Amino acid sequence: MVKRLRKWGVLLAMTAAMTVTAACGSNAGSGTTQAGGSQPPAAASGQSQAQAPSQPASAEKKITLGFSQVGAESGWRTANTKSIQESAAAASIDLKFSDAQQKQENQIKAIRSFIQQKVDVIAFSPVVESGWDTVLKEAKDAGIPVVLTDRAVDSKDPSLYVTFLGSDFVEEGRKAGQWLVEQYKDAKDPVNIVELQGTTGSAPAIDRKAGFEEVIASNPNLKIIASQTGDFTRAKGKEVMQAFLKAHKDIDVLYAHNDDMALGAIQAIESAGLKPGVDIKIISVDAVRDGMQAASEGKINFIVECNPLLGPQLMEAVQNILDKKDIPKRIVTKEGTFTSEQAKEALPTRQY
Ligand code: AHR
Repeated sequence: MVKRLRKWGVLLAMTAAMTVTAACGSNAGSGTTQAGGSQPPAAASGQSQAQAPSQPASAEKKITLGFSQVGAESGWRTANTKSIQESAAAASIDLKFSDAQQKQENQIKAIRSFIQQKVDVIAFSPVVESGWDTVLKEAKDAGIPVVLTDRAVDSKDPSLYVTFLGSDFVEEGRKAGQWLVEQYKDAKDPVNIVELQGTTGSAPAIDRKAGFEEVIASNPNLKIIASQTGDFTRAKGKEVMQAFLKAHKDIDVLYAHNDDMALGAIQAIESAGLKPGVDIKIISVDAVRDGMQAASEGKINFIVECNPLLGPQLMEAVQNILDKKDIPKRIVTKEGTFTSEQAKEALPTRQY
């Protein structure tokens, strides 16, 4: 019991740390909820340690969690992996970790292997939205609960997973669009935007595009003149931006679906003799350290935060599922936004 309480204490501290980090942005906490709770079961139910009538199922044996990660495509992903690995260790959960290298077939193989190994819970961050029903049904038939983290699936059958824990990507796209609309509210001429999309078919690429387009539609001067995938990587972001610069002499704004692509694009812009953040305004998503550094130097004008520190909430969800507690079907991560000035202020204490 003492061991279990110590484990929950560590988780609690990590969840609190994550909430503080997420609150660093300018509008953190506005309109988003962080469901799921951060209290250990005994505290949540009002029971003291001495009163707890019986051990929850999660305390009886070591939990095994199979986790299939998308890959290592970005700074965000590296921070997300670290958070999950550290939180599992802190909660004494046996983590079977598999890196899918951005390939859906590798994730499907990993999930099947977790089913064969009879893990207690499977969690994964789906590289793309579609094509998961068959393997999720296999997990369900084997009686293994599934948690989606970070990215959603487009399955019509919500019984195939217990909960989805992660950001609201449409809202992130809206925040990016709102900043742009405000910046160009007095513009009389067309504003030419190029867009670097995330991985084709992935939830963040689809949703960040949709949210952004929805908001900029309010000003007909704001026009997306080119849009292509940069696969969430720095190398691809640079390559595609080079092509954009060759094809279009009159780019005003770059909207990149993540910091890594924006950082690659900055290299291309500088090589073309232009000043990122000045000649071409840049908006990106994530707010990882390198992105925040570029923002603090004025090279990125606005960053929408996407919090990668999902580990503590995931471990809490896993324990609650095994303890047969009710958990919300959707757990939304708290996030903020950063202008260049705000990035400069936040950088010294940025965790990732
Ligand atoms: O799914 C989250 C996205 O995936 C992050 O924004 C991006 O950097 C990552 O690769």
